[in-house]
Amino acid sequence: MLNDIRSLLKEIGEKLPNLKNSEQLEQFRLEYIVKKGKIQALMQRMKDVSKADKPLVGKELNILRKGTEAKIKELKEKFENTTDSSPDLDLTLPGRRRFTGSKHPVMSVMDEMVDIFKSLGFTVAEGPEIEDDYHNFDALNFPPDHPARDMQDTFFMKGGEDLLLRTHTSPVQIRIMKDSQPPIRSIMPGRVYRNEAINARSLAEFHQIEGLYIDKNVTLADLKSTIISFAKKMYGENSQFRFRPSFFPFTEPSAEIDISCYLCGGEGCKICKGTGWLEIAGSGMVHPNVLKAGGIDPEVYSGFAFGFGIERVAMLRYGITDIRYFYENDIRVLDQL
Ligand code: DAH
Repeated sequence: MLNDIRSLLKEIGEKLPNLKNSEQLEQFRLEYIVKKGKIQALMQRMKDVSKADKPLVGKELNILRKGTEAKIKELKEKFENTTDSSPDLDLTLPGRRRFTGSKHPVMSVMDEMVDIFKSLGFTVAEGPEIEDDYHNFDALNFPPDHPARDMQDTFFMKGGEDLLLRTHTSPVQIRIMKDSQPPIRSIMPGRVYRNEAINARSLAEFHQIEGLYIDKNVTLADLKSTIISFAKKMYGENSQFRFRPSFFPFTEPSAEIDISCYLCGGEGCKICKGTGWLEIAGSGMVHPNVLKAGGIDPEVYSGFAFGFGIERVAMLRYGITDIRYFYENDIRVLDQL
């Protein structure tokens, strides 16, 4: 009898760990615990056990029954509390990924630029994307019918008389000058529009950061030191710079700013088209006519201005050779940046 109890104990001990769900547990219960079950069958045989053996056999049988019942109870609770018990659950399947949004690469470059200029003491201002001809051109010293207007192919608003989509962020300079008194140290990030054929290098919609610094005795040296301080933070301490004479109606003198190509270190590569230099901004000393249009006396104050194209900076930063990738909204592309 004792041997039978022990072999049943062994049998149960082997089966229990293999029970995977409620159904299997119920099968097990029916096999061992119920009135016609295997443990009960042993109990029935107690009456044939000799008086002397009864205490020991009874004790072992009890341990077997109680132990098995307790184990069943424990497993029952476990299976009821987990949904993991489904037999077709495959724990090796990859988890379900939740997609989180992220900043657009153009926006993160813009934020980075804004933060650097803030650290240099610039405040941030914004202006309207729908502008009038006066702020976009006249006040910025573009004479009527001057060819410089053609440099910036313009989207005019239908029926809006002289309303247009701003072609650059420079008109915000005029608005700031009119709204405040020098000293003025502001940057003006925003979206601009040009009626241009779309290709790998240009879009009809892009972003710029304008800068304006007006105070007494502001010189070209201030412009250079500000741009260089900014660009060293943005592109690294070892960057080299070059100011090339240029023309903009709203600045005199004007300069385009090049930085040594930080991909090839100035040796010449595909990105800098073998020149070793990358153009990063237009700049200059604010033209007296522009100060006047902003209500500022050019005899007392002087200033400098600059304008960066943000997509261009982002393209260089991420090694993107086609500007259209930014706006095709292909998550596989944006995710890599
Ligand atoms: N507005 C010019 C453009 O869109 C960029 C520019 C050049 C801005 C020189 C400036 C500047 O403030 O001083 O091409």
